[in-house]
Amino acid sequence: MSAVVRVAVVGARGRLGAFACEMLRAAPGLELVAAWDSRDDWRSLAPRCGAQVALEATRAGLGFEHARALLDSGLRVVVATSGVSAEESEVLDRHARALGLGGIVVPNFSVGSWLLQRFAAEAARWFEGAEVVESHHARKHDAPSGTALETARRMNLERERAGLAPFQPATPEYDARGQVIGGVPVHSLRLPGFYAHQEVVLGAHGELLRLAHDMHGPAAFAPGLRASLRYASEACGVARGIEVALENASRA
Ligand SMILES: NC(=O)c1ccc[n+]([C@@H]2O[C@H](COP(=O)([O-])OP(=O)(O)OC[C@H]3O[C@@H](n4cnc5c(N)ncnc54)[C@H](OP(=O)(O)O)[C@@H]3O)[C@@H](O)[C@H]2O)c1
Repeated sequence: MSAVVRVAVVGARGRLGAFACEMLRAAPGLELVAAWDSRDDWRSLAPRCGAQVALEATRAGLGFEHARALLDSGLRVVVATSGVSAEESEVLDRHARALGLGGIVVPNFSVGSWLLQRFAAEAARWFEGAEVVESHHARKHDAPSGTALETARRMNLERERAGLAPFQPATPEYDARGQVIGGVPVHSLRLPGFYAHQEVVLGAHGELLRLAHDMHGPAAFAPGLRASLRYASEACGVARGIEVALENASRA
């Protein structure tokens, strides 16, 4: 394996893809060899582009199918696109192993966002209810965000592990009470001025715990993105979650 990881970016003219291309041009040990968008016939170009890893950063809902196509082209994958479920990640894992390839599905590259999810999951067993408010720029194509769904899922899982029932939100029948995921109402704000923000509010009688994370620009994705590309370049099977790549980087 060469020391330099050669990378192709799918969705290169989008916000995340453009940031990744800029980062790759400056990152030691990583090299941008192809940058494709919706106008490019990337499925035909992928098998002979010389990349080891493809970063998939297109549109919510396309990540699973694109990742399969990239694996079929012989590339390992980092799937950044929102909306790839845990079940779809498992399908990709089996598919990659059958091909002798691998990669990682990373719903969020931010270290702070991952830590917020961990802390919220830990707190979930000690409170009587919890709600999530996620706020993003107005051009985001999905709501609730994949990150907020994952936060609610992890909180619910932690309660299940502790032998507790899911939270019972008050008055879930009203339209304005958010989308309820595993007993956690998730509320989405979309406005110019936001970048990516998440607050988890946990309540018990007489006290509230607020956990908040604010991202002001794509620079927050860089360490997780670099670690994911390096991890994917040698991966066998498709892992899920930034923690896998970060733990791998800390051992290197
Ligand atoms: N994992 C993370 O940490 C993270 C961080 C930020 C964003 N995201 C997710 O990553 C995705 C991209 O985000 P973004 O903000 O960069 O979105 P964006 O600015 O809308 O960019 C998406 C790009 O993908 C292109 N595209 C759409 N369909 C395509 C196809 N079939 N083949 C190739 N390119 C295609 C679009 O081209 P056209 O405009 O020509 O259609 C556009 O340039 C979203 O799902 C977002 O939620 C994940």
